[in-house]
Amino acid sequence: MNYPRRARVIAVASGKGGLGRSTLAANLGVTLALAGRKPLLVDLDFGLADAAILLGINAAVDLDGLAAGTTPLSAMTLAGPAGLDLIPGGPAGETPRSRELLLRRLAQSMRPLADRYDDIIIDTTTGASPEVIASIGDSDGVILLVGEEPTAFMNAYGLLRLLAHGPGISALGIVAAQVEDEAAGAALFQRFAALAARFLPVQPSYLGAIPVDSHVKDSVMARRPCVQLFPDCPASLGYRRVAGAVAGGLFQQSAGGDRFMALEGFHAVG
Ligand SMILES: Nc1ncnc2c1ncn2[C@@H]1O[C@H](COP(=O)(O)OP(=O)(O)O)[C@@H](O)[C@H]1O
Ligand SMILES: [Mg+2]
Repeated sequence: MNYPRRARVIAVASGKGGLGRSTLAANLGVTLALAGRKPLLVDLDFGLADAAILLGINAAVDLDGLAAGTTPLSAMTLAGPAGLDLIPGGPAGETPRSRELLLRRLAQSMRPLADRYDDIIIDTTTGASPEVIASIGDSDGVILLVGEEPTAFMNAYGLLRLLAHGPGISALGIVAAQVEDEAAGAALFQRFAALAARFLPVQPSYLGAIPVDSHVKDSVMARRPCVQLFPDCPASLGYRRVAGAVAGGLFQQSAGGDRFMALEGFHAVG
């Protein structure tokens, strides 16, 4: 059964930490908000609260309370820059079992949000555990950061392989992360796409490069989004290009089934 919903769920993923995934997710959210859309950023890191820190939001939220059913999701939705809403991450769920419960509670509480937002951007966590694969797989589309270093390249491929052979991927956009320039980004994408095409049933689109740019660090230090603080720097141009692809409809609400957190099932049960 298909149920119409407004929100498209986009998972931002990478095979390795430190590539700029959280920075991309935050700047993508802010750019979409600046463009007049209604985005929600969800930080699925039940350990670190990077998204809130990057966006300059100071608020402790009670993730364990959400898991226990005592804190509603509305109490955890924070107002970010330019009208971006944020569900922050943070310390919670010490065991795989409690993290699974937390994810399930989050999924249930997110169902009513399916028609409130245009874009729900998920900052996933690093790794390839079943939880991570599930949280990426339950989306309408994936933005995958690929880096030049062998770890950042091969682990991105490894993650893609697990997704392709597991939950599948509706739509895939590739970002060349922390490359020297546009040419290096395009070459990196060509290499990655050639490898993926040989072995996996995926058709990646290229969303451009986020070049190495010292403005990113300066904006992190200032706890302000790079796209607002340095709108014309090379990284911001890259963030805007990714946002343009998202706003342009690269990802569509996937038909059939419960892609993200059973969002489509909401209308059936609610
Ligand atoms: N394009 C970039 N150029 C330079 N430094 C960057 C860039 N993107 C991210 N960084 C820096 O890399 C570090 C990791 O970024 P972060 O977004 O937290 O990575 P991840 O979420 O992938 O672990 C941060 O210190 C950030 O300032
Ligand atoms: Mg991160």
